[in-house]
Amino acid sequence: MPKTGQPPGETSSNQPLSEFSEGLAPDRIGDEDAVAFLARFPDASVDIVITDPPYESIRKYKRVIVMASGVKDCGKWLQIFPNDRFEELFSEIYRVLKNDTHFYLFCDAETMFVVKPIAEACGFACVKPIVWDKASPTMTDQYRVRQEYILFFEKGKRTLFGEKIPNILTEKPVNMGYPTEKPVPLLKTLLRQSSLIGQIVVDPFCGAGGTGVAAALLERVFFGNDIYLEARKVAADRIGRLRDELT
Ligand SMILES: C[S@@+](CC[C@H](N)C(=O)[O-])C[C@H]1O[C@@H](n2cnc3c(N)ncnc32)[C@H](O)[C@@H]1O
Repeated sequence: MPKTGQPPGETSSNQPLSEFSEGLAPDRIGDEDAVAFLARFPDASVDIVITDPPYESIRKYKRVIVMASGVKDCGKWLQIFPNDRFEELFSEIYRVLKNDTHFYLFCDAETMFVVKPIAEACGFACVKPIVWDKASPTMTDQYRVRQEYILFFEKGKRTLFGEKIPNILTEKPVNMGYPTEKPVPLLKTLLRQSSLIGQIVVDPFCGAGGTGVAAALLERVFFGNDIYLEARKVAADRIGRLRDELT
């Protein structure tokens, strides 16, 4: 398979960006609430959503974080996205996705049980949970956790591109300046499996912008958003530098 992630024989489908509403531009990180950000997209205009909301159960893991910028933050770094807002979030994600597309949601085991029926009620089919094996356990006291889940949803029906890979993806965690950062190689795997060159990737809770970095590396078009200024700075800087290097 070519380095770009374009499966042999597959063609990309470029969406004319002029169709998008004011305030949206690729690689410009939006600063709104996730649901308001998604509301800017027309119906059936997005090829894939990969996202990682700060779900309620994350409260357990809160601790003092020192970011790469030196900002010390204890608690404020993640404003929780409450469970009772998942219905409006998933309805918007379902609306903006084209037919026959995929939606990946990072979560822990507790949140997985909460969100699966809500997403199904919004129209998604849950294909299966994917396990992100972090290769080393965290500091929990009972049966130390060394995985997170990525719930894999379908709108309509779509086969994966690429190889038949197992549903356990092993990748060491990264911490390059923002908490809860997801590794770019893991995000690239999801993008390769479910999107093509030139297609539109959206992450409404983009944090440090890992999804955008993976999208840039694979020549996808990225629209990201985060309400937290520190996140937007890190994400815009990473994606901007990479796009410069690649052109
Ligand atoms: C778990 S983190 C995402 C981390 C990201 N996956 C990464 O690789 O850096 C969740 C992000 O959602 C943002 N956030 C919290 N509530 C939000 C909301 N209502 N709308 C948009 N972003 C929100 C937080 O600022 C945080 O950066």
